[in-house]
Amino acid sequence: MSSINYSEKIPNNVNLSEDRTLQRALEQWQPNYLQWWADVGPEGSRDFDVYLRTAISVDPQGWAQFGYVKMPDYRWGIFLNPAEKDRKIHFGDHLGEPAWQDVPGEHRANLRRIIVTQGDTEPASVEQQRHLGLTAPSLYDLRNLFQVNVEEGRHLWAMVYLLHKHFGRDGREEAEALLERRSGDQNNPRILGAFNEKTPDWLSFFMFTYFTDRDGKFQLCALAESSFDPLARTTKFMLTEEAHHMFVGESGVSRIIQRTCQVMNELKTDDPAKLRAAGVIDLPTIQRYLNFHFSVTIDLFGADQSSNAAIFYSSGLKGRFEEGKRSGDHVLKGQTYKVLDVDNGKLFEKDAPMLNALNEVLRDDYIKDSIGGVERWNKVIEKAGIAFRLKTPHKAFHRQIGTLSGVKVTPEGQPVSDAQWQAGVAQWLPTDEDRAFVASLMGRVVEPGKFAGWIAPPVMGINRQPVDFEYVRFA
Ligand SMILES: [Fe+2]
Ligand SMILES: [Fe+2]
Repeated sequence: MSSINYSEKIPNNVNLSEDRTLQRALEQWQPNYLQWWADVGPEGSRDFDVYLRTAISVDPQGWAQFGYVKMPDYRWGIFLNPAEKDRKIHFGDHLGEPAWQDVPGEHRANLRRIIVTQGDTEPASVEQQRHLGLTAPSLYDLRNLFQVNVEEGRHLWAMVYLLHKHFGRDGREEAEALLERRSGDQNNPRILGAFNEKTPDWLSFFMFTYFTDRDGKFQLCALAESSFDPLARTTKFMLTEEAHHMFVGESGVSRIIQRTCQVMNELKTDDPAKLRAAGVIDLPTIQRYLNFHFSVTIDLFGADQSSNAAIFYSSGLKGRFEEGKRSGDHVLKGQTYKVLDVDNGKLFEKDAPMLNALNEVLRDDYIKDSIGGVERWNKVIEKAGIAFRLKTPHKAFHRQIGTLSGVKVTPEGQPVSDAQWQAGVAQWLPTDEDRAFVASLMGRVVEPGKFAGWIAPPVMGINRQPVDFEYVRFA
């Protein structure tokens, strides 16, 4: 069951050929997907040979095979983790009952919405990143971008499979609509805010893959607990791919910081103007990008109090992060959780019913996890003997969703007036000038082993290949 059948038009480990109707429906969706990739996938990349990994099994050891692939020929397919025998529902009102192999009628609308919302983020990020290949800082980075892109494409396949297999005609319609919405489009945008933002430069890309792909990790982890077993199994496999995306982000930002610190020490300065003149990104600008991506991403977890979150949990659709590893009753009735509220421009904590606060629970788990990498970035700065430290902003900073969207708060967590916000925002969020400067650094470096001047080379190559390996061959 864990090995993947590559002899079929759509590679899969779900015995697709035994369900002719489903197979036909997906084979009809496939050319539309390829057309979408041609229209809004990585720009100008059709004929490149890219050193990519492809899944050959879902076994934790050795699932990937590496080799040169032209991206339109990437074998996108349907890969689910093996079924767990006699899996039981382990949280919510159905606790202890057998996991569902099909969608229960009463949860159909909610499950469809969850799957569509997750599915929508996958093509969105490919659209957001489509121009980045034109300004890659190295072949190594170009290859990593493309790896992330093809895997986000596969994540779309993962959700579309569920829609086609379990949701009949409206599932097929949703699958079509996933190819029709466009990131940033006025009339038909992607569903979630952060996925309509631009990813115009590589600092944004690395911040996005660090922070926003990590949101993906937490959403997928919550869905991997689902009572709907096919959703749990497919998200578990998606998580194995997601790990690389976050690595790309963390190591990318780390290498930018390393290069900046090197030049700071060479020039013995922390003056942003001098550092910019020397062609590196000053640390305060990196902090502002961090503030932006962090705040936009934590909005993705939704309102701090949500009756939908309670329903999704109690009905067993979506668990907490690592639900299976937690102690407690896994029902959460009558429990409370601290959420932030605003009164007269002041922030204060209050108790909310735990079930209604589950978006906040997941957001807090996310925040804990994302701080880890920021600490590792600080180690790079510390090692260079520089006093500056990066910091994730306060949870209430620059929020657009939930209670906190109604208040202006500094990165330190101090509520401020509109006038104070206007006076300070240029220190807290990337300015047009910051973005123009970062854009001015973006060139295209494609000679094997060469790197743009604003980023350090990685310590190691991909799949034990040397750093100067020809990761992308141009036709
Ligand atoms: Fe994804
Ligand atoms: Fe991802």
